[in-house]
Amino acid sequence: MSQEEEKVTYFTLEEVKKHDGATDDRVWIIYKDIVYDVSSYLEEHPGGSELITEYAGKDATKAFDDFGHSSDAKKMLKAYKIGEVVEEERKGKIKKKEKPSVVNVNPAKPQTRSCFSIITCGLCG
Ligand code: HEM
Repeated sequence: MSQEEEKVTYFTLEEVKKHDGATDDRVWIIYKDIVYDVSSYLEEHPGGSELITEYAGKDATKAFDDFGHSSDAKKMLKAYKIGEVVEEERKGKIKKKEKPSVVNVNPAKPQTRSCFSIITCGLCG
């Protein structure tokens, strides 16, 4: 798989709505502001096609999450991505790949004096 640097296509909710399985036989769903064409997956869905077509042309985020799909199911979803919801109509923010938070580690200052030197200096001084 090539590194995802392809151009993103943006869809309005109005456009997504047209793909409700009836108008043009395509079933699009929205999951977390990303648009998926899951038409070819319907028959494979372990929960049956109807559970998905119920959300055809709509936002299926809550339904998808309420079932508690496995991480495998979430990975599978990626294969059907066709675009994203236009910014003005998004419900939330699309998660960017989280960068690992950089912990500001101050390298421990080298111990310049050992207990021993402190004691000896104390004794000398
Ligand atoms: C659109 C709303 C969706 C709803 C309401 C829904 C609901 C469900 C339900 C109820 C099951 C359990 C079936 C059973 O155990 O008999 C299930 C399983 C599953 N669904 Fe969905 N589903 C949806 C969309 C999707 C989509 C788009 C995908 C992947 C492209 C997907 C992938 C899976 C997978 C892989 C399982 C097997 C269990 C798992 O791995 O989590 N589902 N789904």
